[in-house]
Amino acid sequence: MRIIGTGLTGLLGSRIVELLTDYQFQNLSRVTGVDITSKDQVSSAIANSSSSLVLHLAAFTDVDGAEKEKDLKEQSLVWKINVEGTKNVLEACEKSNKKIIYFSTDMVFPGTKEVPEKYTEEDKTGAIGFYAKTKEEAEKLIEKATCPWLIIRPAYPYRSNFEKKDFVRNFKQLLEAGKQIEAVSDHFFTPTFIDDLAKVLDLAISENLTGKLHVTGGEIVNPLEAALKIADFFKLNKDLIGKTTRDKFFKDRAPRAYNLSLNNDKIGKLGVRMHSFQEGLIELKKQLAI
Ligand SMILES: NC(=O)c1ccc[n+]([C@@H]2O[C@H](COP(=O)([O-])OP(=O)(O)OC[C@H]3O[C@@H](n4cnc5c(N)ncnc54)[C@H](OP(=O)(O)O)[C@@H]3O)[C@@H](O)[C@H]2O)c1
Repeated sequence: MRIIGTGLTGLLGSRIVELLTDYQFQNLSRVTGVDITSKDQVSSAIANSSSSLVLHLAAFTDVDGAEKEKDLKEQSLVWKINVEGTKNVLEACEKSNKKIIYFSTDMVFPGTKEVPEKYTEEDKTGAIGFYAKTKEEAEKLIEKATCPWLIIRPAYPYRSNFEKKDFVRNFKQLLEAGKQIEAVSDHFFTPTFIDDLAKVLDLAISENLTGKLHVTGGEIVNPLEAALKIADFFKLNKDLIGKTTRDKFFKDRAPRAYNLSLNNDKIGKLGVRMHSFQEGLIELKKQLAI
């Protein structure tokens, strides 16, 4: 099966392409002549594709960089890529009645639920930072689509290697370098092992799933707990890990919500077993040893 997609060179997309070898992927990117902010480029690339499915992962993903642009509102690059770009991809899908799978984020939620409560697919969104608002706005466009659609929400995704760091490799590399880290204790989330995300996507394609799907591990962690687990697991120096709070750590950065934990019962019912954070670390270590 041929699949056309955007963002297939990124942290998530490149691993999906690596793992789902039964599909033939075609990436639309600035390198291949398609900037998603150009309606014409997107429209002709999608219209000319024989694929009946479009994976849309491309995004401006620098959360703190996005916050710096927030006063520019709809003139900001993050808005142009995440909202206008999604609109372009969506309209092209609608024109040729292709299905769109849009990759969103746990950050669309306000995060005010008490831990260990989790957000379900049916809960109302209410993003707090500017990056998150652009992703939420794009979700709203997708929900009104006239073509079939699926919204996938991963959270704090991690994998064993890639040029762009994720939070696990960031903590691990800092600790390996003997650097002191300050880890937040009042920000909770349910991290996604990216290999699991590829497995769920494969199922979502073969079962032709539509609607919204939370694709996260079931285990809730905060950055402090995550850093301690990483240190424990990889036998690194725990004394380098200090405790801080969201207010201090994110003072001049994008605000982070208190509890972004996502309920993943829906994928559980589909028969998918996601790695817990601990199990994800075990798998990651195995892959690093190869
Ligand atoms: N990473 C996370 O923590 C996280 C968490 C939850 C959800 N997500 C969502 O998952 C998706 C993938 O994230 P990621 O972390 O894998 O992204 P990433 O590594 O930052 O890669 C971004 C991708 O988007 C493409 N892109 C950016 N601007 C573009 C444009 N104007 N036109 C065409 N392509 C463009 C890039 O292609 P080039 O090669 O052209 O630069 C790249 O392939 C995003 O939608 C993100 O919001 C990410």
